[in-house]
Amino acid sequence: MAIRTPVIAGNWKMNTDVVSGLELAREILEQSDGITGVEKIVCPPFVALAGISELLGGSSVHVGAQNVSANENGAYTGEISTSMLEGLVSHVIVGHSERRALYNETSADVAAKAAAVVSAGLIPILCVGEALEIRQAGNAISFVADQLESSLAGYTAWESLIVAYEPVWAIGTGEAATSEQAQEMTAVCREVIRKLAPNAADSVRVLYGGSVNSGNIDELLEQPDIDGALVGGASLKADEFSKLITAAGSA
Ligand code: PGA
Repeated sequence: MAIRTPVIAGNWKMNTDVVSGLELAREILEQSDGITGVEKIVCPPFVALAGISELLGGSSVHVGAQNVSANENGAYTGEISTSMLEGLVSHVIVGHSERRALYNETSADVAAKAAAVVSAGLIPILCVGEALEIRQAGNAISFVADQLESSLAGYTAWESLIVAYEPVWAIGTGEAATSEQAQEMTAVCREVIRKLAPNAADSVRVLYGGSVNSGNIDELLEQPDIDGALVGGASLKADEFSKLITAAGSA
């Protein structure tokens, strides 16, 4: 099996502003720049990207966006295109469950966004995950497999893809999936990738997300198919986020 470098990515969601975002990025840089063996990514709100990208440019901490339009440019009020992000970010989160649930993004939308991200030379962090009712009905595996396969329709840039399995019931609830649940589902994601791109399956990083913190990261990282974490709440505190980076760096 190919050796996969772990990824710790922070999704700041709609938190911080231009000034406090820059400060948070500065603290994360100070505390984690020297840690090796792990890819570090912060995904601040759009308005903070320019300053943070300038601050972190050339450092070991990469910058990502939380969303992007699938359209190139034009009459799409309030939207941001991939060409606007070029030079500011290296990664873009697509298909986060909050975008799917609150803004009605479909897997077809997510596939179009992933394609736009790739055409711009950027790396998608593509999110999938089931809601509680789906898990309780015993359908988590088939739901996530279908969701991932349709979100990857037409996808080509397998060598750079990052996938994040994030069960909706674990996001922001303080109730993370158990490491067994997270392993089972990240393995399902990897099998979907194996079906679509057999040669890439062992090199694509599959992350777990949902209430990850310094208390549960070690056990999650011990699982063979979990290659890191997409982190919400715990990414807003530099100390806590740096602990996750340290855990992955030494994992
Ligand atoms: P959380 O969010 O770590 O606050 O649960 C994870 C995510 O939404 O990516």
